[in-house]
Amino acid sequence: MKISHDFVSRSAEETVAFAKQIAKGLNPGDVIALQGNLGSGKTTFIKGIALGLGIEDADQVKSPTFVVMHMYKTLVPLYHFDLYRFEQPNELEAIGFEDFIHDSRAISCIEWAEKAGREIPPDAYRIRIDYLRENVRRIVVRKGHRKRTYRPVKKHG
Ligand SMILES: Nc1ncnc2c1ncn2[C@@H]1O[C@H](COP(=O)(O)OP(=O)(O)OP(=O)(O)O)[C@@H](O)[C@H]1O
Ligand SMILES: [Mg+2]
Repeated sequence: MKISHDFVSRSAEETVAFAKQIAKGLNPGDVIALQGNLGSGKTTFIKGIALGLGIEDADQVKSPTFVVMHMYKTLVPLYHFDLYRFEQPNELEAIGFEDFIHDSRAISCIEWAEKAGREIPPDAYRIRIDYLRENVRRIVVRKGHRKRTYRPVKKHG
């Protein structure tokens, strides 16, 4: 199923509540790739995801700037990456990024996902957060189809 939501959030609390709703539709193995400028609300959105997945203390949810990844004990384990400081694809390899995001028992959220380029699976949720003005953000959610095996159509003759 193709998923697509556009939402204008007027406070951090509204962003958290919206993300909690998105969390209800998530399954183990899902990947959430977030893009948006510094301070747009990526971490705030992930806090909502963690709450939706039953985290007890949402204050644990902070950008893992110096340790690369946080892992939260939620109903489905949640991996939280922040790739802001990443510059080379081999840095992703060094932290075992691919193995984490393909862990079918966990959900992965990635801030600055554009730095991971093609490592992001094609069926990931894509979240874009735009700063409109103080306290106001546009949140765009897209999810493509599962990748299908390509079967060329046989030509006659
Ligand atoms: N509508 C809103 N949605 C989300 N955050 C908002 C909103 N209005 C105000 N804010 C504030 O904007 C800030 C967003 O910070 P947050 O850490 O979530 O951003 P970020 O995108 O993760 O930044 P970084 O790239 O530095 O990690 C918070 O201080 C939050 O309270
Ligand atoms: Mg952040």
